[in-house]
Amino acid sequence: MKLQIIHGPNLNLLGSRETSVYGTESLDSINKKCEALAQELGCEIATDQSNSESDIIDIIHAARQGVDGILINPGAFTHYSYAIRDAVAAVQIPTVEVHLSNVHSREKFRHKSVIAPVAAGQISGFGADSYLLGMRALVGLIKNA
Ligand code: DQA
Repeated sequence: MKLQIIHGPNLNLLGSRETSVYGTESLDSINKKCEALAQELGCEIATDQSNSESDIIDIIHAARQGVDGILINPGAFTHYSYAIRDAVAAVQIPTVEVHLSNVHSREKFRHKSVIAPVAAGQISGFGADSYLLGMRALVGLIKNA
């Protein structure tokens, strides 16, 4: 089983970016935790980060070649990218949306996700654990499909 993990814009700055909201853990450290969990779950992962909407859409399209599930933190694109939403809907690969922070307890514009309606579910507010919980959920979904 192969999972594609996608980190959206500004997540390359994790560790130094708004640490009171996102904590001090780097993206590299989150990826390492995901790798360790992938080994435990017996699956393979690819991790990519991009600040560009078009790159993220291309990664989602490329997932049609052999990827069983997508875990995505779309960053701010969560709240307004109909193009990423359409890409997720188009490829018909089970997708879980994750967020480090609890988007529902923050500014009003973060309460809406245009991607969540086409995802299997959303996990928000648990820091790096959101990714790990999301991976477990995704693997469960794929196994039970
Ligand atoms: C985020 C939440 C988004 O609202 C924000 O724009 C981000 C990070 C999170 O992981 O908490 O860039 O997706």
